[in-house]
Amino acid sequence: MALMSLREVLTGAVVMAPMTKGSNLPYRRLCVELGARVTISEMTVARRLKQRRQSEFALIRRFEGEPFFGVQLAGTNPDEMGWAAALVESRGADLVDLNCGCPIDHFTRKGIGASLGRQPNRIRRIVEVMKRNVTRIPVSVKLRLGWNDEMRNYIDQAKAAVDGGADALFIHGRTRNARYRQAADWDAIGEIVNAVPVPVVGNGDVLFPHEIAVARERSNCAGVMSARGVLIKPWLFREASDGYREISAEERLAIYRRYVTLARAHWGEDAHGLERVRMFVRWHIDFWHRYAPQHPDGSFPRLQARESEAFARTPLEHLLARTDATAHDYLAEALTFEREIDPANAPAAAEEPESVSSRDRGTPREEFADVEG
Ligand SMILES: Cc1cc2nc3c(=O)[nH]c(=O)nc-3n(C[C@H](O)[C@H](O)[C@H](O)COP(=O)(O)O)c2cc1C
Repeated sequence: MALMSLREVLTGAVVMAPMTKGSNLPYRRLCVELGARVTISEMTVARRLKQRRQSEFALIRRFEGEPFFGVQLAGTNPDEMGWAAALVESRGADLVDLNCGCPIDHFTRKGIGASLGRQPNRIRRIVEVMKRNVTRIPVSVKLRLGWNDEMRNYIDQAKAAVDGGADALFIHGRTRNARYRQAADWDAIGEIVNAVPVPVVGNGDVLFPHEIAVARERSNCAGVMSARGVLIKPWLFREASDGYREISAEERLAIYRRYVTLARAHWGEDAHGLERVRMFVRWHIDFWHRYAPQHPDGSFPRLQARESEAFARTPLEHLLARTDATAHDYLAEALTFEREIDPANAPAAAEEPESVSSRDRGTPREEFADVEG
């Protein structure tokens, strides 16, 4: 792929979005097996790389055979970001991306993530320095539409990024304050496409293949990016090329089991490794259980809707659609330790407040709510 232009790489692509936790290496590997061609790392904090934190270095690792791997960096100091861009290039990334979207207060208070969107000049400066520090790979910027409805400055942000030298833009079609409450605004993404000369990849609410076509038609973007859709349906990439097909619960389980195989190979099969695998599987089940197929009337479920329990027809579909912590724990254990999954033997839901059960089990529900929020 190195010989293709970035525009060629992105045109028609479904890009696997940068996702804290979600874009872990074995999950990216699973998605590539299912047809992903462009993957992006979890958000990686430039300063933590500078501090030589091993956990941060793990995030920028490309797996052998990963077709086109972008690393997303977060930071606000141009020199630090330039240094980190050079580092990730030397570690084999195919692209380096600047995060201007992270909504979490912990980061925005430090001027990182979505708060950069309020200072287009700073975006320009950071991109300039990142560009100067890389020799081979392109630099992209991931933007939101603005901070809130009063400040939808996406054209200013996009132009500043391109002035600084950005080679592509990823646009999440919502403001920072909108979180996930509103539908992504693909018309605004289209305005950006018309305003800049670089390829634009639109992002927001893509779950089924027909939505990819609609989004591209509406905005004229080069490609689309999916985050929650890919966490719920890693086979979205296959559908993007082959078209929608209803998938059985058994097929879904086989895909989840494949993830476990890749995760065990990555984190190891000793007690420590298996505990990590279990923790990640448990986290992924928070998304996997939300899957629902096309409705009998031909319409499709929306990302916002929670209707997996309503569609379930077979005992296995019922088990995979359960929302309670008991079922998720049972499935995570059985998948991680490669045991049989028998709906008849699955424990009933315990009656306990969700928040307590999540906290006690150390699941990342709260952390995820924050990231997603
Ligand atoms: C679990 C999770 C983690 C995320 N982490 C990041 C991140 O590290 N960097 C980033 O730019 N966006 C992150 N996002 C936002 C997504 O990349 C994407 O912009 C957003 O979810 C909208 O796309 P969707 O409607 O397809 O989910 C995250 C989203 C989710 C659900």
